[in-house]
Amino acid sequence: MKYLRNNDSLPSSSEKEKAVRKMFDRIAPRYDLLNRLITFGLDTRWRKKTVQFIKTPPSGTVLDVACGTGDLCESLRKANANPIGLDFSRGMLNSFNSKAPLVNGDALKIPLRDSSLDGVTCGFALRNFRDINPFLKETARILKPGARLALLEVDEPKNSFLKIGHSFYFNKVVPFIGGLFSDRAAYGYLPRSVVYLPEENELIKMIEYSGFKNVEKFRLTGGIAQLLIAEK
Ligand SMILES: C[S@@+](CC[C@H](N)C(=O)[O-])C[C@H]1O[C@@H](n2cnc3c(N)ncnc32)[C@H](O)[C@@H]1O
Repeated sequence: MKYLRNNDSLPSSSEKEKAVRKMFDRIAPRYDLLNRLITFGLDTRWRKKTVQFIKTPPSGTVLDVACGTGDLCESLRKANANPIGLDFSRGMLNSFNSKAPLVNGDALKIPLRDSSLDGVTCGFALRNFRDINPFLKETARILKPGARLALLEVDEPKNSFLKIGHSFYFNKVVPFIGGLFSDRAAYGYLPRSVVYLPEENELIKMIEYSGFKNVEKFRLTGGIAQLLIAEK
């Protein structure tokens, strides 16, 4: 593969989209297995929390942007929402394991009408986007006034001891497990791609600037994951 080899620097903005799509096409068949292994199943709990916070009306339509294999869509369905999944990786869409309708599309150019949705979720994808601002503007455009956006992402703990342990696990153990069961280069990219995430306050400002209010950040499991909730 041309990009995302284990020791490579991260792809530049123009290369990123193609590199990310190819990478997810490749790791799709074992993506769910690796998620469960790497997070010890915590990812399932974090998704449930995301769905609780989105607070859509019963049968409300929620777009899960960058839906991958559909875990968030399934959690939304179980909570009586009507999810729609959107992703641009054919591999991930082929491994989609939810009954929700699917759109093969770009998170930065969402093919849905203005003010048409009761909620938007997005799990572990922010750092994979070429640019976060157009994605935020698109979500503000398609949400109904008062509807919520829920962004689930990895994070770095604040506590120094946790930080050291987390860094070792994320930078050494995750690529090792990835290499054993799937693709070492891809699971080496995962920890490195965190540099694409803006600092906490900057990200909150970006969300507000895109047309949202009441932005709240929740630290999950000692701060190894984060959930950002915002209202249009
Ligand atoms: C780490 S996976 C997360 C999948 C899923 N949301 C989850 O919680 O497991 C990131 C997903 O983002 C998708 N993605 C990245 N950039 C995208 C874009 N510009 N448009 C649509 N999907 C994108 C990838 O194809 C991949 O499925």
